[in-house]
Amino acid sequence: AGEPKLPPQLVVYWGQNSNGAINPGDRSVWEKPLAKYCEDRVADVFVLSFLISFQPMVLNFAYHCETTFPGSSLLNCPDIGADIKACQKLGARVLLSLGGASGSYGFSSDSQGREFAHTLWQTFFVSPVSGSSGTAPLRPFGDAVLDGIDLDIEGGSTVGYVALVSELRTLFATDPSKRYLIAAAPQCPYPDALLQPVLNQAWVDLVMVQFYNNYCGVNHYPAQYNFQTWDTWARTVSINPNVSVLVGVPGGPAAAQSGFVAASTLQTIIADTRQRYPSFGGVMVWEASMAWATGFASQAM
Ligand SMILES: *[C@@H]1O[C@H](CO)[C@@H](O)[C@H](O)[C@H]1NC(C)=O
Repeated sequence: AGEPKLPPQLVVYWGQNSNGAINPGDRSVWEKPLAKYCEDRVADVFVLSFLISFQPMVLNFAYHCETTFPGSSLLNCPDIGADIKACQKLGARVLLSLGGASGSYGFSSDSQGREFAHTLWQTFFVSPVSGSSGTAPLRPFGDAVLDGIDLDIEGGSTVGYVALVSELRTLFATDPSKRYLIAAAPQCPYPDALLQPVLNQAWVDLVMVQFYNNYCGVNHYPAQYNFQTWDTWARTVSINPNVSVLVGVPGGPAAAQSGFVAASTLQTIIADTRQRYPSFGGVMVWEASMAWATGFASQAM
């Protein structure tokens, strides 16, 4: 509690190399290492996607990192760890996204969600450098300390996420040295089928609504584009009255099944949204390889 609203943020997902998936033979358009995007100083936040399984923890970063720790299913990604630190030095925040469209994940109880908050804290947060106790023996990003997490829960059940976020908040509060962020990425139809309980009952900083693949997307502006519904949620339901609601968009025509609009159109939509709705908190773009290929990231906001 007591957190001011963040200034409008440009948030970009990184790690799935979508452009490489549709251009497997042309490495020149594959997603670049994380730090390359940070060096452009266009985005405020990068979201590493994804942690696709919780028990055991399984990460997937496409071709960027493919080696696991011996005897473990956990990826060992020292290069991404170095890039996280480089990005933070350049002023960007880096979050880890849990879930995604194709993972298999979830909890069977609140206590499992709570316990997982400690696993995340020990694995991706508590710095081993300062000799802190309570850090995990296997850390995919070494001594890099993330800035928070994102929930992109598109499968499984609602069980455990409120407990997870509440417990993470408690753990974050033990380190006042920085402001940790919790983000969530619901689809635009309201209420979200899986994230609504955590949106309503837990303290979330950034709600990055996916305004694509749906009737309520930016491609249906103004008639069915439903930012107003999310703004009303932010002001009347959210327990964080300063929550930021972001306009989530595809970074290119092939980044989503539907919903891409050209940057010039998006700028009109953003200007209108910003002016009408006090909860407006920026733009989220799926994802880096697409957004940079089209030049979209630099024009989105
Ligand atoms: C909301 O933000 C204001 C400053 O912008 C701050 O004074 C206030 O404490 C915040 N409210 C909560 C509940 O965090």
